[in-house]
Amino acid sequence: MVQKIALFNHKGGVSKTTTTFNLGWMLATKGKKVIIVDADPQCNLTGMVLGFSTKQELEGLYKKEQNIKSGLAPAFESRPKLIEAVDCLPVEGCDGLFLLPGHVGFAEYEVTLGIAQELSGSIQALQNLPGSISYLLQKTAEKFKADYILIDMSPSLSSINQNLLMTSDFFILPTSPDFFSVMAIDSLATILPKWYAWAQKASEMRILKDADYPFPKVTPRLLGTVVQNYRIIRQEPAAAFQKWIDGIEEAVSTRLVPSLRKNNMLLSNQMYNYQAIGSDLCLAKISDFNSLIAKSQEHQTPVFALTSKQIGSGIVLEKTLGAQEKFKKVFSTLTDRVIELTCHAASN
Ligand SMILES: Nc1ncnc2c1ncn2[C@@H]1O[C@H](COP(=O)(O)OP(=O)(O)OP(=O)(O)O)[C@@H](O)[C@H]1O
Ligand SMILES: [Mg+2]
Repeated sequence: MVQKIALFNHKGGVSKTTTTFNLGWMLATKGKKVIIVDADPQCNLTGMVLGFSTKQELEGLYKKEQNIKSGLAPAFESRPKLIEAVDCLPVEGCDGLFLLPGHVGFAEYEVTLGIAQELSGSIQALQNLPGSISYLLQKTAEKFKADYILIDMSPSLSSINQNLLMTSDFFILPTSPDFFSVMAIDSLATILPKWYAWAQKASEMRILKDADYPFPKVTPRLLGTVVQNYRIIRQEPAAAFQKWIDGIEEAVSTRLVPSLRKNNMLLSNQMYNYQAIGSDLCLAKISDFNSLIAKSQEHQTPVFALTSKQIGSGIVLEKTLGAQEKFKKVFSTLTDRVIELTCHAASN
């Protein structure tokens, strides 16, 4: 059975897209079938995987009608046919990894979905919308026999994000060590219980149960956080970053975790303990990739999978290869933790 993992933080620029791509790649390297879903109208993940940067290139892709918006069109544009699986694109250089491309126009469905999710229960014509995204992802996972779906989300508290998160099995919270990430964690401690209450109600409403695409009954569990993109000095995070790494740990352990625990949105403490994950639920700390990020984007390949030819020569080559090896270990541990946590949760 596929496990759906949302990468969510309404704060922008915290490495959601980068983590989706890198984690997806590493999961596939470890033998899992993975679909990475670009659910952000910015289409950064699609651009990152395909190496697109121009509007024309994206528009060429849209013509194939195999993307998140076209996949949902039967429900959102009242077409007289059922939603079908999207024909995802194989990601070059990584067997078992597939991309469900994004679409800049996905944002056009936002308002209608928002109205449908108000749950007045009186708008029969909109009953198929709240369950439609989950249905599309499920059908696509079945077609590709996927073990994992990773969803790259936009930085917002939109109705689409509310839907994506609350119909996922798990979520990961990417953060960056700064004041705004601490603020974002505090606001999530208030918002997520409201989303939980909404999803509970939605899954019990007759009108949504009877829809062509029934709204699923699922509670997303937080696997943990990823703290990313900070400067290292003498093997340790620079003091200015360490201060915010500590701030994030405190916000998670003392404010977010108690709020999620009340709403059943966590795994058992024992499961985190088995993976040596502390009360801050930190799955991985990933420092600044430095020059490797440019090579990674140039070759549409995660930093840890770049070949030495792709990295190129230079006076700092040895240092760069050493850094790459370190990132490989960090992503491998992150991926092992994700596999263990999701496997055990599924079997419980
Ligand atoms: N560990 C890292 N080292 C260096 N640069 C990084 C690292 N992680 C991410 N970046 C860079 O930081 C920027 C933001 O990352 P990314 O696009 O993954 O964030 P995001 O959360 O998806 O942003 P958005 O909220 O806009 O969707 C990108 O330019 C990315 O290349
Ligand atoms: Mg992004």
